[in-house]
Amino acid sequence: MVRPMIEPATTAQNPTVLGIETSCDETAAAVVTGDGEILANLVLSQLDEHRPYGGVVPEIAARSHLDHIDRLVEQAMAEAGLAFADLDGIAVTAGPGLIGGVFVGVMTAKAIALAWDRPFIAVNHLEGHALTARLGSDLTFPYLLLLVSGGHCQLLAVEGVGRYRRLGGTIDDAVGEAFDKTAKLLGLGYPGGPAVEAAAAKGDAAAFDLPRPMLGRPGLDFSFSGLKTAVRHAAEAAGLLDNPPGSPSDDPAKKADLAAAFQQAVGDILAERCGKALDLFRERYGKPGPLVVAGGVAANSHLRDRLSSVARAARSELLAPPPALCTDNAAMIAWAGVERLRLGLTDPLDTAARPRWPLEELQGTAATAPRSAEAG
Ligand code: KG4
Ligand code: ZN
Repeated sequence: MVRPMIEPATTAQNPTVLGIETSCDETAAAVVTGDGEILANLVLSQLDEHRPYGGVVPEIAARSHLDHIDRLVEQAMAEAGLAFADLDGIAVTAGPGLIGGVFVGVMTAKAIALAWDRPFIAVNHLEGHALTARLGSDLTFPYLLLLVSGGHCQLLAVEGVGRYRRLGGTIDDAVGEAFDKTAKLLGLGYPGGPAVEAAAAKGDAAAFDLPRPMLGRPGLDFSFSGLKTAVRHAAEAAGLLDNPPGSPSDDPAKKADLAAAFQQAVGDILAERCGKALDLFRERYGKPGPLVVAGGVAANSHLRDRLSSVARAARSELLAPPPALCTDNAAMIAWAGVERLRLGLTDPLDTAARPRWPLEELQGTAATAPRSAEAG
């Protein structure tokens, strides 16, 4: 799909952009400059509102975004010490995500863009994750990206802004989803990823023997649903189900072992696939990577260590944004806005919010982007 383009809004190579993110359960606003300085980066988590349900409730999320976004944007601008008139563009997650929440962000961003006559930039949330590693670094295209979040698990060659080549992806669950479900099953708490990581740190991964689906298979796809089922069976056999923390038969040590075994299995799968992807990347692009990891699961330090070893073994390197920029935030959206604005890739105010928006559909925009603008 080729998104319509309006006139390049700014020729400034150092634009200052407000970013807004409301696609899941974080209300976020940030201000970022073209040289990668984060002037403000506010994230308001809705964890407490969703915790009783053990997952994100879309209606609650949308209402909560609506309640907080105006104040958060004001606060971000105040922290940045800027007025709306000082901005060069307004960037917002326009999808993919929970559509009620995405609407709230998109309407807010459009209102500011319209009121202050500033360019509007509709950012794909996944592109936000994909470009984060370039924020404040000299990372150049192309690079290999492992995108691992609550809804996604993909290996991509990032060839440029809006230019993503999918090399492989999950055929069932996303990695973050597997972490969240494991946490829920074992009653480890919410959100699942950090809870599993914390429990795993105290456990012995060798105590359980779990499968590694797809390991050694041709191609670069992933599968996590078999692992999830195996965790359930192992938990059942070890009597760990329906034993919430504090209950008489709770066994936190065994749960920690199972969490560690699960995390180890995920690490093995990601490591093997990324090793193969680095080989393929070198063949195709004539350079050894780097391997960039992004998305919420990239906050996991065990997985970062595993991927770092894989990259080293392939004489490449792992680049991982700081954990706070891996999980959902608005600095990554503002930065994607900076990158697009520099290329003149802005969007009309009738751009729709999209619940689904695969990264590959951005490729049409890429052809319109001047290659020379990518100076490194
Ligand atoms: O990117 P993100 O914040 O939101 C989405 O776009 O999905 O990713 C959220 C996912 C959740 O599944 C969460 O459990 C997982 O990232 N996650 C982690 C960790 N921190 C967050 N998974 C494993 N270890 C972590 N430390
Ligand atoms: Zn995300």
